[in-house]
Amino acid sequence: MKFGTFDDARREYVITRPDTPLPWINYLGCETYFGIISNTAGGYSFYRDARMRRLTRYRYNNAPLDFGGRYIYLRDAADGAYWSPSWQPTKTKLDDYTCRHGMGYTTIASTFKGIRAETRYFVPLGETLEIWTTTITNTRATAADLDLFSSLEFALWEAWDDATNYQRNYSTGQVEVEDGVIYHKTEYRERRDHFAYFACSESLAGFDTQRDAFLGAYRDWREPLAVEQGALTNSIAHGWQPMGAHQVKLTLQPGETRTVTFVLGYHENPQDAKFDPPGSQTINKQIVKPVISKYLQPANVEAAFEALRAYWADLLGIFQVHTPDAHVDRMVNVWNAYQNMVTFNMSRSTSLYESGIGRGMGFRDSNQDLLGFVHMVPERARERILDIASTQLPNGGAYHQYQPLTKRGNNDVGSNFNDDPLWLILGVAAYLKESGDWSVLDALVPYDNAAGTETPLYEHLQRSLQYTLDRLGPHGLPLIGRADWNDCLNLNCFSDTPGQSFQTTTNKDGKVAESVLIAGLFVLAADELADIALARGLQAEAQRYRDEAAKMVTVTDEHGWDGAWFKRAYDDFGQPVGSSVCEEGQIFIEPQGICVMAGIGLADGRATKALDSVATRLATPHGIVLQQPAYSRYHLNLGEISSYPPGYKENAGVFCHTNPWIMIAEAMLGRGEAAFDYYQRINPSAREAISEVHRCEPYVYAQMIAGIDAATHGEAKNSWLSGTAAWNYVAITQWLLGIRPTLNGLQVAPVLPASWPGFTVTRRFQGVTYTIEVVRRGPGTQVALEVDGASVHGDVVPRPKPGVSAVSVRASLGS
Ligand code: GLC
Ligand code: GLC
Repeated sequence: MKFGTFDDARREYVITRPDTPLPWINYLGCETYFGIISNTAGGYSFYRDARMRRLTRYRYNNAPLDFGGRYIYLRDAADGAYWSPSWQPTKTKLDDYTCRHGMGYTTIASTFKGIRAETRYFVPLGETLEIWTTTITNTRATAADLDLFSSLEFALWEAWDDATNYQRNYSTGQVEVEDGVIYHKTEYRERRDHFAYFACSESLAGFDTQRDAFLGAYRDWREPLAVEQGALTNSIAHGWQPMGAHQVKLTLQPGETRTVTFVLGYHENPQDAKFDPPGSQTINKQIVKPVISKYLQPANVEAAFEALRAYWADLLGIFQVHTPDAHVDRMVNVWNAYQNMVTFNMSRSTSLYESGIGRGMGFRDSNQDLLGFVHMVPERARERILDIASTQLPNGGAYHQYQPLTKRGNNDVGSNFNDDPLWLILGVAAYLKESGDWSVLDALVPYDNAAGTETPLYEHLQRSLQYTLDRLGPHGLPLIGRADWNDCLNLNCFSDTPGQSFQTTTNKDGKVAESVLIAGLFVLAADELADIALARGLQAEAQRYRDEAAKMVTVTDEHGWDGAWFKRAYDDFGQPVGSSVCEEGQIFIEPQGICVMAGIGLADGRATKALDSVATRLATPHGIVLQQPAYSRYHLNLGEISSYPPGYKENAGVFCHTNPWIMIAEAMLGRGEAAFDYYQRINPSAREAISEVHRCEPYVYAQMIAGIDAATHGEAKNSWLSGTAAWNYVAITQWLLGIRPTLNGLQVAPVLPASWPGFTVTRRFQGVTYTIEVVRRGPGTQVALEVDGASVHGDVVPRPKPGVSAVSVRASLGS
């Protein structure tokens, strides 16, 4: 069952009924001012940091769900009927309804009793504000006397404090109202230099700034008293809950349309010019007033909206495909790339599943996210790499998380997640391949942000590899530490106390438990660093890395192979995890993906065997589950993985992040049908038709789909902010479509179902636009290239001569 449809030409998802299984959200903003917005106008806004600079309030986890938002109400003076054109909060049955989620904007439109209302929300580039444009049309045969109300609830800035410290907060709230603009200035009188404002383009019939004056006692947003009565009360908040609401009277003749603009913004004043007049307690509005005026003018709003559309058209234009499959096209061309940019902006901070309050960006997560956005914003990827590397520890290890504002490592979580440093090598390798910017390796980067410790970035990569080599266990496999990629496989934790963190509790000295996943990851990273070393003319060093990788392959052969698949780990007792000898958790997906991606077993048939085992033991119609059989009870020696009920999250859920590893591995074996089949099983667009089962948004990936052991098999959770986005993008664009940046240029090596006749791609790469046409001439994956009409050897397009900005490539596929 569907709740909407893709409008591919406009790059929008069009939701056609408001009662989606879960709120289906979108993101506003792409620089410093952000918000989430649901299909019924729920959500909140913040400046830079969803915890420290929360502008508006939101209620997660309540019934009804998704409360607090950017709500508009309309009231018909004739009969006093009022409704929300976005359905929530009043949930009035609307005559029609659509929500269009686009690239950085959302438009919600509906009709009720002949009154059509459409509100478009977006954040202009370069500004710290959002604009709501509401257009009301009277389609009745008679004139309509309407009142239009805006409303939002201000958060008192620090979201955690806002949600907990009532004894203080009920007394601190303050506002000013001047020329119809509502200024929220809680704590501005003391140390804050910022305030929020909420403005309206029309002259007002009234306003409210005290929530309970607007709602009335014992009422909520479904039935605000002031709206019911048709008159706001001009309340001024003193403490309690500051809010903003405007009332505009509209008399519309039959067929008449009026547009009303609302602007919600954030502004920082210089510390020494906070007040006007100086010495008063009144906000200095001199700088902000012209900004407000500008965006209350419709022409300026439209120009800003067009600029936003152009921004996304340009970013997405870097990689565009045309294939026989609509799901591929819309995910690659629009939604998967968009989701990658959202994870770049948000990391794991703000979604329906991330409260915005949790701190920290993951070391491994950030490096993997980069794989999905590096081609769109390479300069910002460079900056991100240097930030991440600056938190690395002198021994090559990494803080598991760092703080986005201070960019320092997070001591609460600490380090010893032994896979972390290796992802830095993969992140840097991806950046080098995309940008060709070798200078990044010479950038001086400190350790643990300590001045005086700087070394070239290249040395950080060397230390990352060495970190693994310094921590080998009894079998010669890498020690796992607190966890590897799977944060929930905690082999040194042994926690028996409720509430303890599985990630930071460590009851074993960590000298025994080993990870086969890290072994595979090490081989992958060592090969990348060897290629980089070679390209820098460091033959001996490159050879050393290849030798270390070869040693690790031998150890993995001897101790990491279970007979029909790769083992997952050894626990603190030296017993295998992910082995046929285990009672539960016999086979795990991660080492099958990562080891094959590292090339282990490609030559001797073990890779094929491992992937065949994945197909028979782990693959479901809803994707490939993380392991089988699921853990039916808590295992002290395994940790959090066995804390989840069977079929959820790391305990045998379809953890979508890992599925593309198998797609890539299948592609490396040349098995295009299998690779593409797995791709489609979790492709959100391909799952649109079963939205009542999937429940999350059909336009973005979710972290998890409930596995075969779950009562709700096929149900997705934790949409948007997940490494799933980047890895699926890498799998489809680089390995299935096969358009792959390498250190030597752009490679064209598709691995696709035999039934595909071909496809075309436009790819901007290092200043050159490549137009690539792939034509199947027979079965198989062999590629013959013609570049600007001349056939070339191999499958890498030679770099064009300086000054050439367009190259045409024709690739014949198969034999
Ligand atoms: C709050 C504090 C209390 C303090 C009082 C006066 O009630 O909890 O410790 O004495 O304020 O400042
Ligand atoms: C979450 C974490 C990520 C981890 C994954 C598997 O997505 O953010 O770091 O790899 O779970 O446990």
